[in-house]
Amino acid sequence: MGFLQIQFINLLTILVIIASSESSLSATPPNFPIAKPSCISRCGNLSIPYPFGTTPDCYENPTFFITCNHTFDPPQASMQNLSIEIIDISLDGQLQFIAGACYSRNGTRVFYSGPKETGFTLSLDHLPILVVDWAIGNGTCEEAQMNASSYACKSVNSRCYKPDNGYGYRCSCFEGYQGNPYLINGCQGMD
Ligand SMILES: *[C@@H]1O[C@H](CO)[C@@H](O)[C@H](O)[C@H]1NC(C)=O
Ligand SMILES: *[C@@H]1O[C@H](CO)[C@@H](O)[C@H](O)[C@H]1NC(C)=O
Ligand SMILES: *[C@@H]1O[C@H](CO)[C@@H](O)[C@H](O)[C@H]1NC(C)=O
Ligand SMILES: *[C@@H]1O[C@H](CO)[C@@H](O)[C@H](O)[C@H]1NC(C)=O
Ligand SMILES: *[C@@H]1O[C@H](CO)[C@@H](O)[C@H](O)[C@H]1NC(C)=O
Ligand SMILES: *[C@@H]1O[C@H](CO)[C@@H](O)[C@H](O)[C@H]1NC(C)=O
Repeated sequence: MGFLQIQFINLLTILVIIASSESSLSATPPNFPIAKPSCISRCGNLSIPYPFGTTPDCYENPTFFITCNHTFDPPQASMQNLSIEIIDISLDGQLQFIAGACYSRNGTRVFYSGPKETGFTLSLDHLPILVVDWAIGNGTCEEAQMNASSYACKSVNSRCYKPDNGYGYRCSCFEGYQGNPYLINGCQGMD
């Protein structure tokens, strides 16, 4: 069933501004794996947690595709074909980027088409940094759990929850665990 597949909504359609919000950066300790084995987990200062990744083996779905351009110093991360500069990806479900570059590669301004369609909510914090909420797929936790192979909360010590706004679902580690709930063994006990 296609709708159960993990799907990140097309970022070409996300770019707009709704309300102010303080982005919460998840505190994943640096010694915890955040990416799949042998995957690049950083681009310059940016952490790239799975389901995001820079190569097909490393992201869950092409829409989580991050490119890291080393012509810049520090290297610059961007999303798919958009020339936006990503400055933070949080496992809490936020992605921060520089607002000034919300153009597609061909120079066309990209517009937001609404949270109902996209499953995204974007909020304007302090320009030029925009924050977009990301989530998995467009179904509920219950729907997603019906297909174990596509269900994104891979860690046994994780749970699924519905974002306050937008479609899809997210994963988080159980209380007392930290790390990346989207990875097998990603959530580890804090001792
Ligand atoms: C479960 O998800 C996998 C991977 O996305 C897909 O190939 C498979 O068809 C799905 N199974 C069902 C029963 O939907
Ligand atoms: C959810 O995603 C599937 C697969 O892309 C799509 O066919 C379906 O229309 C989407 N459902 C909603 C409610 O957006
Ligand atoms: C990258 O990290 C270094 C050291 O923490 C910091 O000085 C620098 O401002 C950071 N650069 C960016 C673009 O965040
Ligand atoms: C990196 O950025 C430079 C300057 O914008 C651009 O010319 C180049 O094509 C980019 N490289 C990749 C791999 O995207
Ligand atoms: C990205 O660019 C490639 C090649 O130009 C194109 O095939 C693909 O559809 C684009 N993806 C998006 C999401 O625009
Ligand atoms: C530029 O890219 C956007 C988004 O990828 C696309 O919708 C638009 O048709 C493109 N315009 C031209 C002139 O290629």
